[in-house]
Amino acid sequence: MAQRAHWGSRMGFILAAAGSAVGLGNIWKFPYITGENGGGIFVLIYLVCIVVIGLPIMMGEIFIGRTAQNSPVGAFRALSKPGSPWLGVGWLGVACAFVILSYYSVVAGWALHYIYLSIKGGFTGMDADTVGGVFNDLFADKTLNIFWHVLFMVMTVGIVIGGIQKGVERWARILMPLLFIMMIALLIQAMRMDGFKQAVSFLFTPNTENFRWGPATLEALGHAFFTLSLGMGAMITYGSYLKSDDDLVTTSITVGVLDTVIALMACLVLFPIIFTFGMEPGAGPGLVFVSLPIAFGQMTGGAIWSLLFFGLLTFAALTSAISLLEVAVSYFIDERGWSRPFSTLFCGLIILFLGIPSALSGGTDLFGSKMVNLTEKVLGEGNGKNWFDSFDYLATNWMLPLGGLGIALFVAWRVGGQAREQGFKAGTKFGKLYWGWVFLLRYIVPLGVVAVFLYSIGVIDFAE
Ligand code: TRP
Repeated sequence: MAQRAHWGSRMGFILAAAGSAVGLGNIWKFPYITGENGGGIFVLIYLVCIVVIGLPIMMGEIFIGRTAQNSPVGAFRALSKPGSPWLGVGWLGVACAFVILSYYSVVAGWALHYIYLSIKGGFTGMDADTVGGVFNDLFADKTLNIFWHVLFMVMTVGIVIGGIQKGVERWARILMPLLFIMMIALLIQAMRMDGFKQAVSFLFTPNTENFRWGPATLEALGHAFFTLSLGMGAMITYGSYLKSDDDLVTTSITVGVLDTVIALMACLVLFPIIFTFGMEPGAGPGLVFVSLPIAFGQMTGGAIWSLLFFGLLTFAALTSAISLLEVAVSYFIDERGWSRPFSTLFCGLIILFLGIPSALSGGTDLFGSKMVNLTEKVLGEGNGKNWFDSFDYLATNWMLPLGGLGIALFVAWRVGGQAREQGFKAGTKFGKLYWGWVFLLRYIVPLGVVAVFLYSIGVIDFAE
């Protein structure tokens, strides 16, 4: 067998892992779900989930990948035995990669469309209603949605075909620092706005009034997995390109901190605008695509800021999409012996087709309103979701935490103690954290995930 590709440097790995973590989840999704769930208290629960559940699992995933030097399915086989039920966790992850990337690419396509709009002159002089109309028109437009979705998939496939060092790592090295600089520039703008104070208090004062504990906690947990790219083997896959003495503790913490900082920065950019212009924080998935352009429309040089922002959003989405595709692609390379180009094209095509219903979800037919009627029947009145929402809900809130649970149980209970301890301690100064890590994976993660599951389906009832 050919020798396994590795990252060119530790920095390259950190940037690629951070590139995977930082994406639409941070800049598009986190602000809008925070807005929908009333701010501070949601942010707090989310932060707890990151530290107590997310970080230990990230270390677990990188541990599995780095030790087994194999992509998820093969890694579970190598660390247990052929035919073991643990392989199911790997399979679930590969399936999840297809599901998530299919709708992720549609949202990334919206960002591409907004780049195009910015180049055409941006939103200068448009009032709030006009900007809202721009988004609604895009959302309902089948041709445009499919066009941008296809284009984004082509870009993702183009990078993944290049392989690890020449594709993934090289692009992460360029795109990630750029993204950070752009965020800082936008933040400086936002700090000068009238609504900044109100935004800070909205985001950091826990207020439990009207808080829907069950659904919101599930959402916060699911999002902790989503934003750190956990629960489906992305970090197993990236970890498998590490050499066996690379430090997994420091790396995980660095990635977790970067990811959280960017998510909070995105909120600190968005919410001042929302409050300054008297808009609704709970506006849903259109939030970044409506509120920001309104502000850009009023700013001097707004078209340039808007180009900058949507360019940034596209970069962030691209480095994440790469990691999702890489999970699927590496499965066919490692397990089926396919070549990288063939595997990439094959997976890319399937995801492209799987994404079409999501691209059509804004319409009023089959995947849009008919689907909403159907999900209302299953999930109850007012819970109606189109195809796009349903995929996101299923993958993020259920498949990822379930996969994460499997990963935690596997590392904590199945892997041999000696291998686990040596693996954790290899190359790190933080060896002392070993028992804390094992404790969290053994008890806290499983209890937390299961409790949130039971709670959200109404089997247990704490507060209400
Ligand atoms: N974490 C990315 C984001 O926040 C999305 C993502 C990339 C992802 N790879 C993943 C989510 C793997 C779950 C699993 O946008």
